[in-house]
Amino acid sequence: MENNEDVLLNVEKISKSFKDVQAVDELSFQIKKGEIYGLLGPNGAGKTTTIKLILGLLEPEAGDISVLGLNPQKDEIEIKNQVGYVSEEPLIYKSLTPKELFNFIASIRKLDGKTTTPKLAQYLESLSAVEYYERLISTLSRGNKQKIQIIAAIMHDPKILILDEPLTGLDAKSVKVVKEILELHTKRGGAVLFSTHIMEIAEDICDRIGIINQGKMVAEGTMDTLKHLVNAMDEDMDLEDIFLRLTDQDDSINDIVDKLRQTMNS
Ligand SMILES: Nc1ncnc2c1ncn2[C@@H]1O[C@H](COP(=O)(O)OP(=O)(O)OP(=O)(O)O)[C@@H](O)[C@H]1O
Ligand SMILES: [Mg+2]
Repeated sequence: MENNEDVLLNVEKISKSFKDVQAVDELSFQIKKGEIYGLLGPNGAGKTTTIKLILGLLEPEAGDISVLGLNPQKDEIEIKNQVGYVSEEPLIYKSLTPKELFNFIASIRKLDGKTTTPKLAQYLESLSAVEYYERLISTLSRGNKQKIQIIAAIMHDPKILILDEPLTGLDAKSVKVVKEILELHTKRGGAVLFSTHIMEIAEDICDRIGIINQGKMVAEGTMDTLKHLVNAMDEDMDLEDIFLRLTDQDDSINDIVDKLRQTMNS
């Protein structure tokens, strides 16, 4: 399967720790052409660390990563050309306007203005961001910064999109538009890796989901596969319940709420 040319991203038994924290622990998964793959897990599960390892921003202590057959540690520049990345942190180019940022990206990526300009105009219009085009990024609201970051990541038509919690802070209409963009991207042969800690978002958008907890894959598959797993465990559980159970959060929630009530009522 690893040699299958439809596998655009292959992650095999990768591990990364920070001092005493095992952030990613022998994690493996593959993403195929045309697929939207969701990494779902609670805060601190290792989603961002996994994404940074794939982009070559961090070095794994063990395991192998192949992005379109390339090695993130060796082919960082080529990977940057083939991948669009939306980071968890808000945009860093705060002293630029979106227009300046897009011009900058177009020039370093040597994009053809004739094809890029109308595409950009369409993205801006779809995401209701035309009016922010010439304002400083630092003055934009969180959601509007996020939209600019998404456009910046897709404007060079990368083969793989890697988005770390891309919908956080977006309004309902923009969520729909971004979802549409991701689907169109996969329809033309791309792939998407998407992280979220919100079950419904994963359910709504992803073809396959990998649930991770403490750096480990605890369940993986299509929504149907995961739903079968739910039924096998307990008829009364819905997907949210199974996510909480698989990530060891189900018992602790009631306990936490009880303790909170006691503290806040005293
Ligand atoms: N630079 C770092 N130094 C020390 N510990 C780190 C560092 N980066 C991540 N960690 C730790 O690694 C673990 C995984 O963090 P990571 O950011 O990958 O989680 P996440 O799944 O993206 O969480 P969230 O949903 O909050 O974004 C956490 O325990 C975190 O504290
Ligand atoms: Mg994260």
